[in-house]
Amino acid sequence: MKQTILVTGGTGFIGSHTTVELQQAGYDVVIVDNLSNSNAEVVDGIEQITGIRPAFEQVDCCDKQALEAVFAKYKNINGIIHFAASKAVGESVEKPLLYYRNNTVSLLNLLELMPVYGVKGFIFSSSCTVYGQPSKENLPVTEDAPIQEACSPYGNTKQINEEIIRDYIHSGVNIKSVILRYFNPIGAHPSALIGELPNGVPNNLIPFVTQTAMGIRNELKIFGNDYDTPDGTCIRDYIYVVDLAKAHVKAMQRVLDMDTEPIEYFNVGTGRGVSTYEVVDKFEKATGVKVNWSYAARREGDIEKVWANPDKANNVLGWKAESELEEALSTAWKWQLKLREKGVM
Ligand SMILES: NC(=O)c1ccc[n+]([C@@H]2O[C@H](COP(=O)([O-])OP(=O)(O)OC[C@H]3O[C@@H](n4cnc5c(N)ncnc54)[C@H](O)[C@@H]3O)[C@@H](O)[C@H]2O)c1
Repeated sequence: MKQTILVTGGTGFIGSHTTVELQQAGYDVVIVDNLSNSNAEVVDGIEQITGIRPAFEQVDCCDKQALEAVFAKYKNINGIIHFAASKAVGESVEKPLLYYRNNTVSLLNLLELMPVYGVKGFIFSSSCTVYGQPSKENLPVTEDAPIQEACSPYGNTKQINEEIIRDYIHSGVNIKSVILRYFNPIGAHPSALIGELPNGVPNNLIPFVTQTAMGIRNELKIFGNDYDTPDGTCIRDYIYVVDLAKAHVKAMQRVLDMDTEPIEYFNVGTGRGVSTYEVVDKFEKATGVKVNWSYAARREGDIEKVWANPDKANNVLGWKAESELEEALSTAWKWQLKLREKGVM
């Protein structure tokens, strides 16, 4: 019998791509999203790609009663992938309580409902922000690197959520979890039917690059060119969102079908550190489109350099990033062109 996965935040950027990969791997998907940072048309995009319409419930995960009604309606949910969260670092500094409430109450509600409805597997979207700035000897960073004090309320919610899941599993509840620590997700589905829809001024580099290339933003600022890196700009590990989505399928198979530890942690990155300057340069080369950019002063709170050691994901989870950076950047541009064609931006 087909297994059913509840995907919270499933109309969002990573959730929509993961829904596609889950369906293509043979799972039934139920999406729960309150549409606070996405729209219901995404469900049409998913259906166009896979030929299967996922079930969709517009529900806020903080509303326990409404959430429970979803578990009661779809009786045979086997696993949950929990994407739903507020994720803007800057906003979290201005509105910390909104972030603490949304990101922890959602999690608590799901964890409390799981044993009641016999749901066994839980995959959590964490982030490399938990590592802060790793010391030189901890780069590339492994899952065993020390967790550092969070730089923002958003980052802190990821750490707190990891701890809540760990403590719950250690209490002996019959649940298994995989915590995926994402590096920097980028790109869009090659069909350009789903992608990233930033609200207002983008916080992430790639939407800023594509919007500047499109003329929506006047200029891209590269913050800081005096870091201790080969070209002086910050270094990150950019992971193609379709590759990232596939890591969730592997993680779900692992918690539901394999005899493994009750809680495991995996870095989801390429193992390739790329500078901000290189991203802009590669984007221009991959698309043939010029980006108006200049250097600006360092931005407070930015980490200088971090990239993944993905050996554990490669060898234990059986997942590996397949795509080249240029390919991912091309899909981001194709998606931006599609948004323009549809008159979205
Ligand atoms: N994109 C990144 O750079 C990145 C990096 C590391 C970790 N993550 C984590 O991955 C997850 C998904 O990120 P994304 O980039 O797809 O974000 P996104 O904003 O595109 O998707 C999140 C979705 O959750 C929904 N949502 C938010 N609060 C909700 C609630 N209370 N109830 C129901 N739905 C709710 C939003 O409407 C949105 O559709 C988040 O947990 C995020 O913190 C993202």
